[in-house]
Amino acid sequence: MNPLSAKPRILVARKVFPEVLERLRERFEVDDNQADVILGVAGLKARLADKVGVLTAVADPVTAEVIDAAPSLKAVCNIAVGYNNIDLAACTRAGVMATNTPGVLDDTTADLAWALLMASARRLPAAERWLRKGDWRGWELIQWLGTDVHHATLGILGMGRIGQAVARRALGFDMQVLYHNRTPLPADREAACRAKLVDKATLLRESDFLMLLLPYSPATHHAVGAAELAMMKPTAHLINVARGGIVDDAALIAALRERRLRGAGLDVFEGEPTVNPGFLELENVVLTPHIGSSSRATRMAMVLRAADNLIAALSGQRPPDLLNPESFR
Ligand code: DGY
Repeated sequence: MNPLSAKPRILVARKVFPEVLERLRERFEVDDNQADVILGVAGLKARLADKVGVLTAVADPVTAEVIDAAPSLKAVCNIAVGYNNIDLAACTRAGVMATNTPGVLDDTTADLAWALLMASARRLPAAERWLRKGDWRGWELIQWLGTDVHHATLGILGMGRIGQAVARRALGFDMQVLYHNRTPLPADREAACRAKLVDKATLLRESDFLMLLLPYSPATHHAVGAAELAMMKPTAHLINVARGGIVDDAALIAALRERRLRGAGLDVFEGEPTVNPGFLELENVVLTPHIGSSSRATRMAMVLRAADNLIAALSGQRPPDLLNPESFR
């Protein structure tokens, strides 16, 4: 702690809404990063050496090395529902509480998933690029033919809260909804989204639109690779708003290029923000820069939720979204 300040010192590792910083400054001495420089391992190590808490986001690698370099650290509060950027085991070993922001971004992320599905099905970005180039000579019967969404089969791999929000939206399109998940949904939740549990092979074979909504972990790395893509219909579309690395991007590029898959809508990438240049050459893929949760209201709700977790953790209370309960003493 700074001898001139009675307040505990925290780091806000990314740019946040100023009103959130103001709220945090009422309780903490805040080291902010409103310049939004990506700190990386070295930057986090340097800035966390004297901090008791930190607000992080998906591009902040909270590795064992970072944790070891922060002897006073008590809480790492991620502004995201996913937390694959945090070494949870290292946090637990060091008695550092880690939290995420579940529940506040489900609908916004489901909306973006649907935007990508529709855009891929009806080829919106490519058609718009063509129009803007001045290539439109007039209405033609056989022009920019897309894939029907209504009455098609939607497959969801990973049926958590976001998966269920995606499935509920499919009701309005009279779709058949299949899903695969480690644990089946309770019957009432299955009924609410009229979804049917199937094995992964059936999901891959039968989906016209395959939506990936799994958390990323070593167990889900390349959950959709060359073998899985080969099982899909050549007329199918793949949508990923979950995490890069769940899909083998090189295998997906090959499948799209060779028209073994009709289209894809991707918000996340292996090694992002670098995007495999193979995608950029393809017209049958819609690309967005990890904006699933990016509405103003939702991003505000996420950062407020992360701030609430931090305030609780540093006031001796159990944070509402604690990921490693063993660390709470
Ligand atoms: C999350 O919450 O995990 C998102 O990917 C961040 O927008």
